[in-house]
Amino acid sequence: MSTPASNIPAVPTNVRVASGPAPHSHGNGNGQHANGSAPQTSNTHGTNGSNGSRRSSQLGVGVIGCGYWGPNLLRNFHENRDCRLIGVADLNADRLNWARGQYPHIKTTTAISELIDNPEIDAVAIATPVNTHFELAMRCLRAGKHVLVEKPLCHRSDLARELIDEAEKRGLTLMVDHTFIYTPAVRRIRQLIEAGELGQIHYYDSARINLGLVQADVNVLWDLAVHDLSIIQYLFPELPQAVSATGMRHIAGRPETIAYLTLHYASGLIAHCHVNWLSPVKVRRTLIGGSKKMVVYDDVEPTEKIRIYDSGVKLGQTGTAEEGHPDYRLRIDYRKGDIWIPHLEGKEALRLEVEHFLDCVHNTRAPLSGGLQGLQLIRTLEAATQSLFLKGQPIPL
Ligand SMILES: NC(=O)c1ccc[n+]([C@@H]2O[C@H](COP(=O)([O-])OP(=O)(O)OC[C@H]3O[C@@H](n4cnc5c(N)ncnc54)[C@H](O)[C@@H]3O)[C@@H](O)[C@H]2O)c1
Repeated sequence: MSTPASNIPAVPTNVRVASGPAPHSHGNGNGQHANGSAPQTSNTHGTNGSNGSRRSSQLGVGVIGCGYWGPNLLRNFHENRDCRLIGVADLNADRLNWARGQYPHIKTTTAISELIDNPEIDAVAIATPVNTHFELAMRCLRAGKHVLVEKPLCHRSDLARELIDEAEKRGLTLMVDHTFIYTPAVRRIRQLIEAGELGQIHYYDSARINLGLVQADVNVLWDLAVHDLSIIQYLFPELPQAVSATGMRHIAGRPETIAYLTLHYASGLIAHCHVNWLSPVKVRRTLIGGSKKMVVYDDVEPTEKIRIYDSGVKLGQTGTAEEGHPDYRLRIDYRKGDIWIPHLEGKEALRLEVEHFLDCVHNTRAPLSGGLQGLQLIRTLEAATQSLFLKGQPIPL
């Protein structure tokens, strides 16, 4: 992920190279809740939070987890006029001290149930380690709160299914923070694909590597490749048939630090992601090759994130011999045309994502990155992890 640079507050422990996208992007909601029922939202309470007077439709929002990523959620919910940031919970009191310094009006607590049971809070955003997502999200849903949970949705597909069912049963919004699909860059690439500008897509090939904080509870696929999987899911309607992955552990007692994941498709599309926590340089580069044009998407680039190459190959005939004749030969013609750099709007992905989440809650819409999208990615990650143990054997999806 590229760093949401200047917006990041002091990180509590080791310096972490961000895995999320730079401050940009877009969100969009269409469709309805899967069960079509209205969310259980108490959105009529008081006014005059210290972040401005409260509209009657403002949702009360709480955040659980204020480590590296949580502060980005705090800032974006604080700045959004359709909600009111009520409080933050974290097991680490130092992080709460930091949060109080930034947002003196909000409640802070190390007792998580205090936040979950707060009747002023209608929706909770969860930014804690992956293996805590299920328990915290389930507690929030059972307390009648809408939930925005960090990627990946949780650490097991059966538990993800339980969260989806619980949210549906209660008419609550369950959304996963698949941040990259809200970036202007990824949204523009999707527009290009949908408009047929790239032709038939042959490949997606990405490198997402840096000297990152090695996680204790999930391997590098679950931490970094999940970003690519969410982009791939958003860009290509076709579902992969199988996944294979290879990888290696380099630190005793820690999960895989480097991995190569490949998705196989019936159409001939192939998607490959290289993820690595032990790279000396930060690379966030994706190539998307189509039969007509090709895209280079470099998320580390501050402004010119996408370049569209009018390049490709085509088969041409050499000589005049007809097909079937022994002298018949084909040659490859290379086309190297213009390179185009589209202008992208400079909006932060998380800002648009927060707007989308609130819109989904207010208007009973199905999120673009809802529980089902989160579940699909977890199934792929589970199969990829299985393949990793089998030294790259393809696992059907
Ligand atoms: N969307 C993105 O681009 C992006 C980027 C980075 C991290 N993330 C995700 O955000 C989540 C958190 O990652 P991070 O890098 O901020 O981790 P972190 O370790 O920096 O922060 C986690 C925080 O959660 C607190 N915590 C741990 N267990 C808790 C519990 N049971 N209840 C309350 N608080 C608890 C910790 O004290 C810590 O302050 C992960 O799911 C990660 O995948 C997403």
